[in-house]
Amino acid sequence: PQLSTAALATLERLARDLAVEAGRLVIERPHGLGVAATKSSETDVVTVMDQRSEQLLRDRLAAERPDDAILGEEGDSVPGTSGITWVLDPIDGTVNYLYDIPQYAVSVAACVGDPTTPGAWETVAGAVYHPSLGELFHAHRGSGAFLRTDAGDVEALSVSGETALGRSLVGTGFGYAADVRRRQGEIVARVLPQVRDIRRAGSAAIDLCWVAAGRLDAYYESGLNPWDLAAGALVLTEAGGALRGPGGEPAQTRLTVAGPQALVDQLAPLVDTP
Ligand code: IPD
Ligand code: CA
Ligand code: CA
Ligand code: CA
Repeated sequence: PQLSTAALATLERLARDLAVEAGRLVIERPHGLGVAATKSSETDVVTVMDQRSEQLLRDRLAAERPDDAILGEEGDSVPGTSGITWVLDPIDGTVNYLYDIPQYAVSVAACVGDPTTPGAWETVAGAVYHPSLGELFHAHRGSGAFLRTDAGDVEALSVSGETALGRSLVGTGFGYAADVRRRQGEIVARVLPQVRDIRRAGSAAIDLCWVAAGRLDAYYESGLNPWDLAAGALVLTEAGGALRGPGGEPAQTRLTVAGPQALVDQLAPLVDTP
């Protein structure tokens, strides 16, 4: 669809409102912190609050945007007719949430194209809300990226000016499957001696927003899902960051390397292995 600046701003406004509303529900945890189920493996958990948060987001979207499609982590895809797909991560950082570590977020993105096909989609508006810090990261295409606090302070974001990988604080994350983790362990062993330090903070959406804010210099992860990436990727690029995928292609779920272009160029060869 052709989206005017006003239409993009409307989508962003809704993404923000939804992320904040769901984030406030999640932090109150009216249904506790316990595991509701395990998914792909014993390490891959879902709590009742993941499910409640996603239900809230879906209910709001069904009421306000009935023609849009929905792709969310904890439910079936909903088809649409408008060309816009909402890509939802109701709690990004579920393992932190389960342990009451206050580092998790709600990620809401409005996308065009097909978010299930790598490289075939684009986020046009998105928001990531970190309820424990009361921080909302948001952007729409062409707007620049912003951090808005619950206190009402707004700051324009830009990525770190660091250009040397050896002085860089680099975020990463690990998937849930043992074979994937074995591979990720080998890669992190290669990266660690060449950087200032590594952070595995536990939420890909926050990692991307923290690169946008210069709190991390760069970030890489393989095996993300569209909902981990959709909103944070737009915040990052609108903050002047670069995103790179496997073989120099657009960033996608198989590999995402994010940061200032100079650091992406240095990090990619270390992490981009088949
Ligand atoms: C996970 C987090 C984590 C990343 C994993 C994701 P979830 O999402 O973003 O930081 O390393 O790859 O699956 O399961 O907490 O929504
Ligand atoms: Ca996630
Ligand atoms: Ca999640
Ligand atoms: Ca999950």
